[in-house]
Amino acid sequence: MKRLIYLSKARPSLHGDALYDLLAAARDHNRRAAITGLLIQQDQFCLQVIEGDEAAVRGSFARIRRDWRHENCHVIFHDDVPGRLFPGWPLAYRAGRDLERGQVRQLADIVECATRLADKPADSDRWAMDVYLRALLDSFSALTVQ
Ligand SMILES: Cc1cc2nc3c(=O)[nH]c(=O)nc-3n(C[C@H](O)[C@H](O)[C@H](O)COP(=O)(O)O)c2cc1C
Repeated sequence: MKRLIYLSKARPSLHGDALYDLLAAARDHNRRAAITGLLIQQDQFCLQVIEGDEAAVRGSFARIRRDWRHENCHVIFHDDVPGRLFPGWPLAYRAGRDLERGQVRQLADIVECATRLADKPADSDRWAMDVYLRALLDSFSALTVQ
């Protein structure tokens, strides 16, 4: 089982009906490919968690990263994991306005850390990214209760 997490910058058109249509199509596809995960959109940033079989995750991300509706897509986590964080959720979605204050801060920390890592990879930032990601994902653990 693989988990891939990426950050990207959404194009302004990614809201309203366009977003609704994207989520419906993505959930349909993810269900068929046994992919689960989460998409968070805060300000112009997207953070998506994709989990499933290695080939399914790879194939899905290859399509997603080419999508014109966002840009600057870069991976901040990609590793083997023992299980799913979002079982039963083909693609959970959280808009910025639905996030708690702590989650908004964690996301800002992640974006800042990703910028530093892209600029000059340092172990301290890799470690910090791990901590920030764990904190953010833990805060969504209620989603995993079926
Ligand atoms: C931020 C974002 C997240 C997306 N997440 C998914 C996803 O989880 N699963 C999926 O199938 N498509 C997702 N898409 C849509 C894909 O990029 C793509 O448009 C869709 O899979 C259809 O691809 P196709 O036209 O090549 O069949 C996402 C797009 C964006 C912009």
